[in-house]
Amino acid sequence: MEKLRAEINRHGHLYHVEARPEVTDDVYDELFRRLQAWEAQYPELSSPSSPTHRVGADPQDKFETVEHVAPMLSLDSTQEMDDVRRFDERVRKALGSGVEPVYIMEPKLDGASIELVYEHGVLVRAVTRGNGRAGEGVTENIRTIAGVPLTLRTEERPAPALLALRGEVIMYISDFQRFNEGLRAVGQEPYASPRNSAAGSVRQLDSRVTASRKLDVLVYDVLAVDGVPLSSDMEGVEAIRQWGFRVPERIERAASCDEVFRYHAAFDADRDGLDYEIDGIVIKLDDLSARRAMGATAHHPRWALAFKFAPRQEVTTIEKIDIQVGRTGVLTPVALLRPVSVGGVMVSRASLHNREELRRKDLREGDRVRIQRAGDVIPQVVEVVETRADRPPPFEMPSECPACGTEVYEDGPRTVCPNRFRCPAQLKGRIIHFGARSALDIEGLGEETANMFVDRGLVSELAELFDLGVERLMELDGFAETSATALVEALEATKTPELHRFLVALGIPEVGVTVARSLAESFGTFDRVRDATREELEAVSGIGPRMSEAIVGYFTDVRTAAAVDALLARGIVPVAVEVVASNLPDLGAAVFTGAIPVPRVVAEGAWRAVGGSTSGAVSKKTAFLVAGDNAGSKLEKAEKLGVPVLDFDEFVVRLREHGGDIERGD
Ligand code: IVH
Repeated sequence: MEKLRAEINRHGHLYHVEARPEVTDDVYDELFRRLQAWEAQYPELSSPSSPTHRVGADPQDKFETVEHVAPMLSLDSTQEMDDVRRFDERVRKALGSGVEPVYIMEPKLDGASIELVYEHGVLVRAVTRGNGRAGEGVTENIRTIAGVPLTLRTEERPAPALLALRGEVIMYISDFQRFNEGLRAVGQEPYASPRNSAAGSVRQLDSRVTASRKLDVLVYDVLAVDGVPLSSDMEGVEAIRQWGFRVPERIERAASCDEVFRYHAAFDADRDGLDYEIDGIVIKLDDLSARRAMGATAHHPRWALAFKFAPRQEVTTIEKIDIQVGRTGVLTPVALLRPVSVGGVMVSRASLHNREELRRKDLREGDRVRIQRAGDVIPQVVEVVETRADRPPPFEMPSECPACGTEVYEDGPRTVCPNRFRCPAQLKGRIIHFGARSALDIEGLGEETANMFVDRGLVSELAELFDLGVERLMELDGFAETSATALVEALEATKTPELHRFLVALGIPEVGVTVARSLAESFGTFDRVRDATREELEAVSGIGPRMSEAIVGYFTDVRTAAAVDALLARGIVPVAVEVVASNLPDLGAAVFTGAIPVPRVVAEGAWRAVGGSTSGAVSKKTAFLVAGDNAGSKLEKAEKLGVPVLDFDEFVVRLREHGGDIERGD
C-alpha cells in the first residue's frame, strides 16, 4: 500500500505540479481505485496523508484561530521607479561598502496568502494570513488542492522535522471564467476576481465545496525550517521545488535597478497572456543573513519591495450617464460605457462617484474617456480624451429621486434621497445586501429577484422575505417549483445566522464585515450589541465616535428598530459567540533588550496596556524584539529565529497604532 501511495503521489506530482504526466488518466484512476479498495479492506493500514484522503471532511462550524510559526508580514509597495532606486540605496547602505546586493525577482501573485506547515514531512496545518500573527486554520480545505503535497517528496531532499512555507492560493483565470459562468447560469452572484474567488474558496466551512473549485498553490518562501541551513532565497526556492511544490515561474536574479526595471516591463507586457493574475513583481534581497541584518518594520521586511504595475487603461465612449440609488439613499452617477475589454475583463459601466467628482472631471454623454481597472477594483473614469462637436451641456444631478420622485438633498458632495422606508430603490438595495455573500449569503436572492419582489409589491420590508411561500413565488416569471423551493429553504436556513453576518445584513451605517466581527466578539449576543451604549461601543477596538453614533442611531430609530423586531419575530436567532476575555486583541509577546530611552518596566507596561504580553527571553513565539544600544545575545537569537526586530522608535509607532503611547524620559 505504501508503494502504491508513493506511485500515485508521483503521478499526481507529475500531473499537477510539473504538468508532464507519464500515464493517462485511466491508468491513474485504476491505481487510485486499487488503493481505495485496499484501504477499505485494511482500514487499520489507512493513513490520513493517503492521496485518497483529499476530500470528505465534515463541515465545520467555524475556523480555529491558529498562530503562525513565524509572522507573515506584508510587503511595502510602490509603482514608482524612484522608490525602487531608493530601496536599492537603503539596501546598499545596510550591506556596507564593497558588498553588491543580489536581488531575486518574482511575479507578485494576486491570490490569497497561505502558510503550510509540515511536521516530519506530513502536512499538519494550513493557515490563512489573518492579521499576520495568527490566521484561520483551513487545513481541510487546503488538503483538497491537488497541487499541494500531503507528504513532502523526499527523492532529492529529506523531510525536515519542521517546515513552514508561505505561498499563494490562486484560481487560474480560465477556471475562474468557467466557474463564474456556472454561477451566473444558476442565478448566483459571480465573484469579482480570481483573487476573491480563491480567497472565498479557501474560507468555505465545508471542504467539499473547496474541493469542487479548481485551485492551485504557488509557494515562494520558507518561513521556518529545522536543520536545513539555507543561505539564499534561490536555495530556498530550489528546496521548495524539490519538496514537491509548484513555485512561481520566471524567478530571476538582478544586480541593478536597470535589471529590475527590465524585468518589470517585460512581465507587464506579458501580463495579458498569463492564465493567472499578477499585480506587479516582488524584489527580494537574495542573501538571507543580509535580510536578517536589515530586519523589518512593524509591517514589512526592509529587504523586500513590491513593484506594482500601473492599472490597466483603455479608451472608450460614455454612452449615457445614469443615476443609481443605493440602499442608503445615495444617488450615484454611473457611466454606461461602450463595452471594452480591460485586461481580459469586459467593462461596460463605471461609477462616477458624486456630483463634485463629475463636475471636476467634466464628464458628459458622448465623451471619449480613459478608463482604468486595478485588480478587482471597480473601474474608474480617469479623464476625458476627446469630446464630440455637439457636446451636451454639463451633466446635472436630478432634483428628485429617479426611483421614488422624492426631492433629494445635498450632504457634502453626496446627493441623497431622504425617503428611507418607502423608496423602492433603497429597498431593493437592502434586500440585495441582506442576501449578499458577506451578509447572509442567500443563494437565489440576487439583483433580479430583489427587483422583481419590490416591483411586484411582494416585499415592502426585509422581514416579509420570510413570508414568501413556494406557491406565491411560482406565480413569478423565472420561478419553477425547484427554484422556488430552493429559495424558501435558503431563507429558512438563514434563521440561525452567525451574529456578525446578521449585523452586516442589517445594513447598519458604518458597519462592514470587520466592525461586525469586532462587535460580535466583544458583545457576544445580538441583544447586547443592540443595547450597547456609545461608551461601551467605543471601548471596542476600531470603533470611534462616528461609528458609535451611527450604531446607536440605527437601533434607537423607531422605524429601523421596528424593522429589526419584525425580522426577529420571523424567528431569526443570531448565534451567540463566545466573548473574548478582553476587548483588546492579543498582540503577542514583546521582549526588550539593550539600552532603551525609558526604564524597561515602563516600556513593558505600555505594551501590556494595549493588549500585548511581555517576556524576558526570545523564542519562536516572540512577536518582536525591541533592541536598544549594545544589544547582545537576545538580538542574535531573534535574528536566528527570524523574530522581527524593532528599534525603540518603531516600537512607539506600533504602540500608537494600538492606541497606546509612552512618555520618553529624555
Ligand atoms: S514575499 C515578507 N513573494 O503579496 C515577504 N509575496 O503584501 C513575504 N505575494 O500578502 C511575501 N506573490 O501574499 C512574496 N512572489 C511573492 C508574492 C507575494 C504574492 C503576496 C503576499 C502578500 C502580498 C504583499
